[in-house]
Amino acid sequence: MVKVKILPDKEHASEEVAQRLHDLIVEKPNAVIGVATGSTPELAYALLADKIQEHNTDVSQLQFFALDEYIGLSWDHPESYHAVINRTVTEPLKVDPSQVHIPEAGDDSTEGPVRYYDEKIAEAGGIDLQLLGIGRNGHIGFNEPGTPFDAPTHVGALTELTRKDNSRFFDGGVEEVPPLAVTQGIGTILKSRQAILMAFGEAKADAIRDSLQEPPAEERPGSSLQMHSDCTFYLDEAAASKV
Ligand code: GLP
Repeated sequence: MVKVKILPDKEHASEEVAQRLHDLIVEKPNAVIGVATGSTPELAYALLADKIQEHNTDVSQLQFFALDEYIGLSWDHPESYHAVINRTVTEPLKVDPSQVHIPEAGDDSTEGPVRYYDEKIAEAGGIDLQLLGIGRNGHIGFNEPGTPFDAPTHVGALTELTRKDNSRFFDGGVEEVPPLAVTQGIGTILKSRQAILMAFGEAKADAIRDSLQEPPAEERPGSSLQMHSDCTFYLDEAAASKV
């Protein structure tokens, strides 16, 4: 069962999520947190950084595991998820880069570091709280429609819609968006103890309806969260408008 919280706007929803994150960190200073990229969680990260500063919260024992990363994009590129996580999580939360893990793969490889990511998460004690956004086609992380629900961290191809949507961050347009990515699998995400999915704006309304109201099916990656043991969707009114 997914819990759903509908807030008046992104600001209220991000404040609730930041407060939940801060409460977790105070209660469990060595918490393991799964972090998402995309524009959706950025305000929650900024509000969490404010709370950490205000309360002088100890962040030295936290561990962070990012959801995904493009393949074939230099980590120096400002839109690589290494760079994005550094800008939105590592620096504002003032955590040491060694506390932040990001999946990686060789340019053409599904082997090597990919398969160690789930082991690294397990060694850290498992993810206490996984943050998620959602794509317009219902993708979570970079798990596109058709991804098996038991998939571990793996390399997958991005759909044209996802590349087009994400091209807004790239000067060179859709051609510059890599066609492949490495992502925590849906199986990895479902193992987290708690999960929070945030979605704002009307463009996400169909994906949210399909995730919550249609039966779980591989064509609808977000619907896999119906099988999560403790997942809450934080939505603004526009994203919830078709529920
Ligand atoms: C990317 C990320 C997803 C994210 C999605 C939505 O594809 N891999 O994790 O949920 O974008 O992005 P946004 O939050 O900018 O709408």
